[in-house]
Amino acid sequence: MSEAEVDPRLAVIGRRLSGIPNILAFVSSKGGVGKTLLSVLVAAELSRRGLKVGLLDLDITNPTAHIVLGANIEEIVPEEEKGVIPPDINGIKFMSIAYYSGENPIPLRGIEITSVIREVLAITRWSDLDYLIVDMPPGMSDELLELLTYIKKSLLILVTTPSVLSLVSAKRLAKLIEGRGRLTGVIENMSSSPTELVVELANKLGAIYLGNVPYVPMLEELMGRPYEMLNTQVGEAVSRAVNLLKLNLREPS
Ligand SMILES: Nc1ncnc2c1ncn2[C@@H]1O[C@H](COP(=O)(O)OP(=O)(O)OP(=O)(O)O)[C@@H](O)[C@H]1O
Ligand SMILES: [Mg+2]
Repeated sequence: MSEAEVDPRLAVIGRRLSGIPNILAFVSSKGGVGKTLLSVLVAAELSRRGLKVGLLDLDITNPTAHIVLGANIEEIVPEEEKGVIPPDINGIKFMSIAYYSGENPIPLRGIEITSVIREVLAITRWSDLDYLIVDMPPGMSDELLELLTYIKKSLLILVTTPSVLSLVSAKRLAKLIEGRGRLTGVIENMSSSPTELVVELANKLGAIYLGNVPYVPMLEELMGRPYEMLNTQVGEAVSRAVNLLKLNLREPS
């Protein structure tokens, strides 16, 4: 029996994503290294450059991208028409389980998480996008395995801080994904200058070192205003990372 016969949503997912030239997922096995912040800011930077951008929060049990993006999930109800149309938030088409769960706890496990991911991917109508940015939860469990298996064309951006613990986790995750030709970039967050160990890791993995992003405490005051965040030193680093990424990705027509 083929996978599509086991779960017909898998074929639908393939069709839904088929028109998107670039899918970039921000991953790390360590939590709190900046995946959400950076994925939202990369989406905002691409949108600021006039590109059509979607953002998908795949952190099913603890979605937070809406907070950085400034999506008022209490009031927004995604429109439904042969699927769900991701609302436009500050120029970015944004989809998140948070529209439905609010800030309530979402205690799901294993197969339930997989099912929610497939449902979200199957129902979301992205229209034509140049880029889809995916904010992943930490770890190497259900969400990452779903992404690797069913969003085959997604390219991965590994986020790490220069701390030893983050680097050990990054190397572990790298072992899982290396050899699949999917790891595209490594970004060093909360770091005032490039760290040799992170640059070496990127080189060893055949990924682009996308640079270091400094720690800027003021970002906390700018939550919900991603375009203002782009005007800080973090934004400068994000812009440099996007330049490097765009050099290496398919240019949207
Ligand atoms: N460069 C930075 N400067 C200032 N604050 C930062 C920076 N990067 C991340 N942060 C802050 O650090 C915290 C963790 O970041 P974030 O939530 O993006 O990490 P994460 O990897 O998505 O976490 P999780 O693994 O839990 O999903 C947030 O409060 C975020 O605003
Ligand atoms: Mg996160």
